[in-house]
Amino acid sequence: MKGIILAGGLGTRLRPMTLTTNKHLLRVHDRPMIHFPIACLVNAGIRESLIVTSPKHIPDFRRALGDGRDLGLSTLDFASQEGEHGVAHALLQAESYAAAQRVCVILGDNIIEKNIRDPAQRFNAQKSGARILLKETDEPERFGVARIEGGRVVEVVEKPPRPSSRLAVTGIYFYDESVFEICRKLTPGIRGELEISDVNNAYARRGDLEWEMLEGWWADVGTPESLERAARLVASSGANHP
Ligand code: DAU
Repeated sequence: MKGIILAGGLGTRLRPMTLTTNKHLLRVHDRPMIHFPIACLVNAGIRESLIVTSPKHIPDFRRALGDGRDLGLSTLDFASQEGEHGVAHALLQAESYAAAQRVCVILGDNIIEKNIRDPAQRFNAQKSGARILLKETDEPERFGVARIEGGRVVEVVEKPPRPSSRLAVTGIYFYDESVFEICRKLTPGIRGELEISDVNNAYARRGDLEWEMLEGWWADVGTPESLERAARLVASSGANHP
């Protein structure tokens, strides 16, 4: 299984810091944010990874990460995403890299305390489909929210004003080789972007979306407040360090 880290977008809510650098290169406690999703993949045994980001930032990532070997990767590649057309649009830029293999996709601004080795193994044992990781949150309206019926995720609603549960869909996804075909058929949602929740809904409609709860704390960094919270969590109880 290959790893794909999505680190494009404009980081608008973190301006002015993101006027001069990519959001995922900002410092979280003692290292650049991008180290954490890389460590998450490496600790799950995924050593071949791709970072999707804006072409103008690729040289900065290369300077920060080298060939990735110091962080435990065997190969580190890059793909470009122009503009901010959505998480699923960023994922589409990884199609030729994935080369019809299964992938673990992680959003570059997601930081977790524990590791995802066990979920990765459970996904490997799945014949097909997708696997998502859920986490209880007090602010479900900020995330994709899972609607569960009869023990199955029947729908993911992106940023619902009246959430049906407190179960946020974290930015760590396991997909089989059909994910790119699904992405290519998507149309933009309310934000004008290709939404990853619509990818998950395509699997849910097929009855091929598995889920489990993520262990340990989870941080999604999009604002100065959430950046500070993530730094505090990393400083106080560690995280998935390389
Ligand atoms: O963190 C989990 C949440 O991430 C999920 O619960 C939501 O369902 C999912 O849509 C996403 O929501 P956000 O509002 O947090 O997504 P955001 O636009 O902040 O993008 C998250 C990351 O995805 C960002 O750090 C970089 C990458 N990205 C995003 C966009 C819009 C790209 O690489 N390209 C893009 O065009």
